[in-house]
Amino acid sequence: HTFDVAVVGATGAVGEVMLAMLAERKFPVRHLYALASQRSVGAKVRSGDNELTVLDLATFDFSKVQIGLFSAGGEISAIYAPKAAAAGCVVIDNTAHFRYEDDIPLVVPEVNPQDIARYTARGIIANPNCSTIQMVVALKPLYDAVGIERINVCTYQSVSGTGKEALEELAAQSRAVLSGQPVTSKVYPKPIAFNVLPHIDVFLENGYTKEEMKMVWETNKIMGDPSIRVNPTTARVPVLYGHSEALHIETREKLTAAAARALLEKAPGVVVLDERRAGGYPTAVTESAGRDPVFVGRIREDLSHPRGLDLWVVSDNLRKGAALNSIQIAERLVATFL
Ligand code: A2P
Repeated sequence: HTFDVAVVGATGAVGEVMLAMLAERKFPVRHLYALASQRSVGAKVRSGDNELTVLDLATFDFSKVQIGLFSAGGEISAIYAPKAAAAGCVVIDNTAHFRYEDDIPLVVPEVNPQDIARYTARGIIANPNCSTIQMVVALKPLYDAVGIERINVCTYQSVSGTGKEALEELAAQSRAVLSGQPVTSKVYPKPIAFNVLPHIDVFLENGYTKEEMKMVWETNKIMGDPSIRVNPTTARVPVLYGHSEALHIETREKLTAAAARALLEKAPGVVVLDERRAGGYPTAVTESAGRDPVFVGRIREDLSHPRGLDLWVVSDNLRKGAALNSIQIAERLVATFL
């Protein structure tokens, strides 16, 4: 059994990885369509050994495909995902546009695979935010064992999460700084090279950014538990690929660091790298970039709280944070429902 698949945003940072990973994971593809804006029509992209010619999203007939992997921004999904679904295509949407609607499942296969079944309501499944995905993959086994009351999280997010222009901006600014030239910023409001920006997505009325509130709303929805309190600060750092997170959690019952480590060592999608020595922890560049797992290290009991636990969580935002999670959803969808 094979499937016809469209990748929407095929020329983008996430779309490129989606095309590569469909081939890498041998997803049962019959026809693969690479879609982007009119600007890219005729351009060539690759999926494994296959070269594809980019087609115009605006004129594509979605009745030709059974699955659409969307990653071209929320405004594009708002228009084209319902059109694709009406044509009989199941949309797996990597944007935030539909994530908070009650009849749209929001899925991380290691956490709530059962919610995939609810795709029938609208024909759309939402893929969560990259920072939320890696956090809930690491927290699910601890939550199942002892419950979680509260999560304080600080993120250190790479520029590839913003898209291709941001990768170029970091490279250009780094060259400028190192050669003593003036730095100009277009994508970010301040220089990102050799800097840290405590700001991802737009500011909201409560003082949090939308990226921070995504981590609140999405954690509650994916875990199916609105009682978990989440307090994030999200920051952009001058890293190309891979998001890092410092998690400070309060469990419902006491969990020792050793017990947490044992749970995480057998958790699906997780690799523990936690040796208490120099380099005995995962980093974005050395472990996660270009790889699939969620890496966890620095597991320790919080000195300041009797039921507190600290963790350092790293994953490739374009893979588990976006393309891989979407394709894992697609794999389960076709295995059970299509
Ligand atoms: P294009 O390259 O034709 O602009 P990134 O996240 O790396 O910035 O990539 C965004 C992706 O979304 C690209 O593939 C981009 O295609 C696509 N995209 C942006 N605007 C549109 C649009 N109006 N219609 C179709 N695809 C779009």
